[in-house]
Amino acid sequence: MASRYDDVMSLSVRRGFLWPAVDLYGGFSGFYDYGHLGARLKRKWEDLWTAHFLGLGDNYYLIDTTTILPEVSLKASGHVDHFTDILVTCTKCKESFRGDHLIEAVTHEEAEGLTTAEVDAKIRDLKIRCPKCKGELGPSRPFNMMFPVGVGPLGQDRAYLRPETAQGVFLNFKREFEALRRRLPMGLAIVGRAYRNEISPRQGAYRMREFLQAELQIFFDPATFGTTLPVDSVKGESLRVARGAEKHAPTANERTVADLIRDGLPAFYVYHMVLVQRFYLDRLRVPRERFRFAELDERERAFYNKVHFDVQVAQDSLGGFKEVGGVHYRTDHDLSGHALASGKDLSVPVADRKVLPHVLELSFGVDRNVWALLDLGYEVAGDRSVLHLPPSLAPVVVGLFPLLSKQGMPERAEALYRDLRPGFDAFYDETGSIGKRYARMDEVGTPYCVTVDHTTLGDGTVTLRERDTMGQVRVPGTSLAAILRDLLDGRREFRALGSPVSRP
Ligand code: GAP
Repeated sequence: MASRYDDVMSLSVRRGFLWPAVDLYGGFSGFYDYGHLGARLKRKWEDLWTAHFLGLGDNYYLIDTTTILPEVSLKASGHVDHFTDILVTCTKCKESFRGDHLIEAVTHEEAEGLTTAEVDAKIRDLKIRCPKCKGELGPSRPFNMMFPVGVGPLGQDRAYLRPETAQGVFLNFKREFEALRRRLPMGLAIVGRAYRNEISPRQGAYRMREFLQAELQIFFDPATFGTTLPVDSVKGESLRVARGAEKHAPTANERTVADLIRDGLPAFYVYHMVLVQRFYLDRLRVPRERFRFAELDERERAFYNKVHFDVQVAQDSLGGFKEVGGVHYRTDHDLSGHALASGKDLSVPVADRKVLPHVLELSFGVDRNVWALLDLGYEVAGDRSVLHLPPSLAPVVVGLFPLLSKQGMPERAEALYRDLRPGFDAFYDETGSIGKRYARMDEVGTPYCVTVDHTTLGDGTVTLRERDTMGQVRVPGTSLAAILRDLLDGRREFRALGSPVSRP
């Protein structure tokens, strides 16, 4: 029987969302290409993310920076020395594995953050052999995940493909501060590609070697930030959180903002957890029970973080809660590293003080989020298969069909399609039965379909069908654009549009 992962990947390939890159030549491990629907879904996710997160502050901006960075900058950030995973190679077949993954496969417990000595000891004690050929595993060693690049005709200038978009922001912080409003907090966001030479790319879009990140770096004055935010207005709000050992269970506990602050988390940090949770529950419509923050302890968290919670969404195709983002308190780790290595003062004036800003990073993997939407949305019930995407993210938002390919119906439907097309992702289809046309749209997540029928020819009304309920109402063709806009923006509900009509 096909697994949930296979089902979602099969939909994805069949309908044009994403698939392994270079599959003409057998694929290219860790690299994926997006088809027309996937590219549209991804772009809409990026636009929604950008609007939501830039909207969090009046001094927040989008920037764009290079994807290749010189070694000196990544030495300063700590990536040359610390951006490593633990590599274990089979002495017989020479296949390489991540040490923590080998251990997790046996113990079913998180093993991230172990040292090479600890990995070797566990492999020995648990008698772990090569998963591929059962050969003996060699000693583990740290493996730097960055892709080196030789820049210049002789490749003489050492550089790397950026392992995170964030570094471009840190390198440009002072310039932006001076070009903009010269005040903190200042937010700089990037949506762009990052590259990691993952030892074992797996689970499709989950662990890729080239992927998209959407990151907002908030530069702030650590002496005042918490007091400038409206933390009191969210104190009663409940967050879904797994702390410490709780994250090993597939659940989360509801904790109020006030409780988390009382337990020692910085107020500014918890406040931003609320904003991230709202993005997932309200904008992406992730069911509450499938969302949580999972705390990383000192051994697990990234080398630059002081406080680190993963943002996780429970996905059946990936076996439960999986990281799709993170809330990272990076302190002044990056700015002080770059100031020291470059010899430039990166502090900024705040009233009568000089401040080296601290950074709160809200970081997300776009591909992982797109996959999560496919996983959460895909439903097969009997012979009906439906992709329940949030309407505003659907690659096609409205399908337009003539009921029959005669009596002037195609002309009327095409005219409506042409009217809607500039403002909406619309799709015109007159092939096959009306049921088959609805089914094709359901499977790619199209939230609304419009059918031109005999009644349309008389009074100009059309049938508007909602994907999730399959309910249908009659609305004037001339009001279609306004109604669709209201539905997509959440200003109106489908069931409030009028009395349902019987289905054809
Ligand atoms: N700037 C901070 C940073 O890069 P990270 O936790 O390493 O932090 C941020 O990455 C997000 O990028 C992750 O939460 C995940 O969604 C995404 N990501 C990281 N590695 C990935 C990979 N190999 N494939 C796909 N997405 C990845």
